[in-house]
Amino acid sequence: MTATDVSTSSTPAVSERTAAHIEATERYAAHNYHPLPVVLAEGDGAWVVDVDGKRYLDCLAGYSALNFGHSNERLVAVAREQLGRLTLTSRAFFNDKLSGFAEALCRLTGKDMILPMNSGAEAVETAIKVSRKWGYEVKGVPAGQATIITMEGNFHGRTTTIVSFSDDEVATSGYAPFTTGFRGVKYGDIEAVASAIDETTVAVLFEPIQGEGGVVMPPEGFLRDLRALCTERNVLMVADEIQSGLARSGRTFACDHEDVVPDIYIMGKALGGGIYPVSAIAADREVMDVITPGSHGSTFGGNPLAAAIGTEVVAMLEEGTFQARSAEIGAQLEAGFGRLVGKGLSDVRVRGAWAGIDIDPTLMSGRQMSEALMARGILAKDTHGSTVRFAPPLVASDEDVAGLVAAVTEIVAAG
Ligand SMILES: Cc1ncc(COP(=O)(O)O)c(C=O)c1O
Repeated sequence: MTATDVSTSSTPAVSERTAAHIEATERYAAHNYHPLPVVLAEGDGAWVVDVDGKRYLDCLAGYSALNFGHSNERLVAVAREQLGRLTLTSRAFFNDKLSGFAEALCRLTGKDMILPMNSGAEAVETAIKVSRKWGYEVKGVPAGQATIITMEGNFHGRTTTIVSFSDDEVATSGYAPFTTGFRGVKYGDIEAVASAIDETTVAVLFEPIQGEGGVVMPPEGFLRDLRALCTERNVLMVADEIQSGLARSGRTFACDHEDVVPDIYIMGKALGGGIYPVSAIAADREVMDVITPGSHGSTFGGNPLAAAIGTEVVAMLEEGTFQARSAEIGAQLEAGFGRLVGKGLSDVRVRGAWAGIDIDPTLMSGRQMSEALMARGILAKDTHGSTVRFAPPLVASDEDVAGLVAAVTEIVAAG
């Protein structure tokens, strides 16, 4: 099509077709996001195409839900096949896909049991409920007094209870009254965690890498120390691996970097291959046995379509190639972005195919960087002012990654 430039107040020029989609979306859908002005219509591997036919390297990958790439052949085939057979039974009945999925995910996590849900936030809620129930029924915490230690700068989702322990004002403002029973401590500060634990503490909930926070990692050794502390004080170690897990960090789980196994894994995003929302928690029997019929559930959790996709995701992860590729992409990102520290970037954090770059704020904002990248055919999203996060699908080629590094290098050089 002929692109006729249409400029709106704060967005770059876009075609009429793109503008029409944006205007209709803004008119009829709530403004809970501030998207870049691009309207995507197709995706294949690491690349997406907009309604004007322009191609972009997708460096957000659905906030890591698309670790295996857009339209992944194996996942699409499994989903198509299951769509024609059976999609939903509810858990009022058994279905012939959940058993295989549960067994596969137990094998991947090394845990005895899973509890399947849909969105990431629901899985976090599930972990909170299981931890509290375990605290009362197994640990012997007095009724109604359970506390959970959380980390400053966390992001665990958007439900009322989850935002109750967020310190992001935008995420919390206007939503009070909040759920009590959470104690925030400085991320990665083992002494602070130790001092916050008392006889009411049932769990420490943490992200092994804070994704929304800007790919922030705790100090080396923190995960190991946290594991030891949780064991010593009889507190559940609950790892939210929704974004960091399933090969994003270069290992199956980010906890693997310190050879640490939490008591509860929380998984989501890539578990559904970017096709369908699939989430779950995994834990050993003595923890999961607190869940009894009627005490928790979800109409769609564990449905056969979700289970079929999830089983294939686990099979792909068991081959190890995505983890290996993630580590390779990470090495390329680290070398490329590392050269820019002090030359437009104030900090770079990389773990696997996951990078957070802090731009010198006098140079430009994260949003401006994202817009400049978009103009060069790369999609990424800013977080916290001057930080931009990159998480390309793990099928991105060396050439794709080189293109990303070159674009960022050019943009910071141009100032
Ligand atoms: C670490 C973490 N936990 C939980 C969530 C919430 O997942 P969902 O958006 O699927 O509810 C996210 C989403 O970005 C996340 O990054």
